[in-house]
Amino acid sequence: MENATESELTAEVLRRLAATPDPRLREVMQALLRHLHGFAREVRLTEDEWMAGIRFLTAIGHITDERRQEFILLSDTLGLSSLVDMITHGTDQSEVTESTVLGPFYVPDAPWREPGESTAIGGPPGEPVLVRGQVRSAAGDPLPDAVLDVWQAAPNGRYDVQDPEQPAGNLRGRFRAGDGGRYEFRALRPADYPVPDDGPVGRLLAATGRHPWRAAHIHVIVTAPGHAGLTTHVFDSASRYLESDTVFGVRAGLIRDFAPGPDGCTVDQDFVLRPTGPA
Ligand code: BEZ
Ligand code: FE
Repeated sequence: MENATESELTAEVLRRLAATPDPRLREVMQALLRHLHGFAREVRLTEDEWMAGIRFLTAIGHITDERRQEFILLSDTLGLSSLVDMITHGTDQSEVTESTVLGPFYVPDAPWREPGESTAIGGPPGEPVLVRGQVRSAAGDPLPDAVLDVWQAAPNGRYDVQDPEQPAGNLRGRFRAGDGGRYEFRALRPADYPVPDDGPVGRLLAATGRHPWRAAHIHVIVTAPGHAGLTTHVFDSASRYLESDTVFGVRAGLIRDFAPGPDGCTVDQDFVLRPTGPA
């Protein structure tokens, strides 16, 4: 048997995957290994560098548990979560509201709240904000049965699930839209905050000269019968991290002015959903 060249080795690895029964798994695995081998050849990866890579991935596994998902954080900070979101939902903002990353702090089954109620039920004080607008279909019809599931970090930059000083459910809530698809809820003006940077992903950000900050935002999942669910954010136009959000989550159509008033600020944001079929 003759020794294989580098490219013959790659070809043999791909050939061994050719019998994968599931065609999608075959396509994904072959492309992954083609690019992975190509990457190693391009940078002339050394054994020491690959061991450092393995130690890094091992550290990510060790710090990950049911409360902390460092693999998702890695995907987010590499822009992969945003890329998959764009591939899945498209980037055309002309018909529907743009989606963006879910992030790791979503908690299902948030408390139901009345229209106009505040999600701030304790924890650090902040500037009150009224968020209001309309949920409608891409065809223009209002969606009075829509539900908005909202969550955000407190003004100290921490989510309730990260902060023993906040009651569970603080700055979270589910709201039903009403007549004409109109909705409104109160919250606190969100602050810029750093993603968890005390683990291997934080070390990689520092080593590559990157900051860990996210642009101030409120998360929203909007659902309505007969329409695709929308996972999105409302970004504060005053944030200093709109251009450099560490998870590449900012979309132009989601940036809003938080207009100051005597009782806090007001944000107007409509949500436009894509129809999927009969309600
Ligand atoms: C967030 O916005 O909650 C988030 C998104 C990605 C990584 C970390 C946090
Ligand atoms: Fe967030």
